[in-house]
Amino acid sequence: MIDDIFKKPEHVAVIMDGNGRWAKRRGLPRVFGHREGAKAVERTLKIAVELDIKWLSVFAFSTENWKRPKEEVDAIMSLLVEYINTKVPELVRDNIRLRFMGRRDGLPEMIRESMDEGEKATEHCSGLNFVVAINYSGKAEIVDAVNKILRSGVDEISENTFKSYLYIPEMPEPDLLIRTSGEKRISNFMLWQLAYTELYFTETLWPDFDEEEFLKAVYFYQSRERRFGKVPG
Ligand code: FPP
Repeated sequence: MIDDIFKKPEHVAVIMDGNGRWAKRRGLPRVFGHREGAKAVERTLKIAVELDIKWLSVFAFSTENWKRPKEEVDAIMSLLVEYINTKVPELVRDNIRLRFMGRRDGLPEMIRESMDEGEKATEHCSGLNFVVAINYSGKAEIVDAVNKILRSGVDEISENTFKSYLYIPEMPEPDLLIRTSGEKRISNFMLWQLAYTELYFTETLWPDFDEEEFLKAVYFYQSRERRFGKVPG
C-alpha cells in the first residue's frame, strides 16, 4: 500500500486509451473493448477510494470522438448511460460525488438526463470527486471560458479569475496524468489544468489497467520532485 509519509496525488487524471486494440487482439468488435474499459473504470475508482485520493477524472468521450463510426459512438453513449443509471446507488453508498465536464449541447437527450440525475443524486457526497469528461476537449473548454468572460463584460482577467470560468472551477489541477496504451500525447485533455502535472505513460491497454498499474503510477509520482519552475531547495 501507499505509505502516507510520501506525498499522495490529490487529483489523478486518466486518458483511458487502448480499448479498441484490446478488442482487436482478441478478434472481438471494438465495443467489447469499451465494455471491458468500463470494468477498468470500476477498479480504478475502488483503488482511488482506498488510497483516499480526492479527485479522479477520466476522459470518456472527446469532441473529436464523434468522427468514429456511428455504431461505435452509439455503443459508447449507451454504455455511459447504462453505467450512470446502474452505478449511482453504489456511488452514493461509497460517498463518491459524480460530476461531468464537457459541452452538454450536442449530447443526446437521454445521456444529458442521466448526467443531470447522477450529479444531483451524488451532490451531497463528500468523499472522492469522480469527474467524467464527455464531449470534452481542452481547447473547447478554454473557448467556452473566454466566451463566458466576454459575455460577463469583464475587460481584464488574471489567471485565477480565468480559472473560475472553467467547467469545474473548484477542481484542483491534476497532480498526476496517466495515459495507457503507449501513446505519449495529451490529446486535447485539460490543456489549462495540466500545466505542471506529472505525466505517466504505460504500455498497458486500458481494459487491463488494474491496482498494480495504478500503484506503479502513484510510486512514479512520489519519486518526482515537483519544482513548479523554482530551483531545487
Ligand atoms: C479509448 O480507446 C477509449 C474511449 C474513447 C472510450 C472510453 C470509454 C470507456 C472506457 C467507457 C466507459 C467509461 C466510463 C466512465 C464508465 P480507443 O477506442 O481509442 O482504443 P484504441 O486506441 O485502441 O482504438
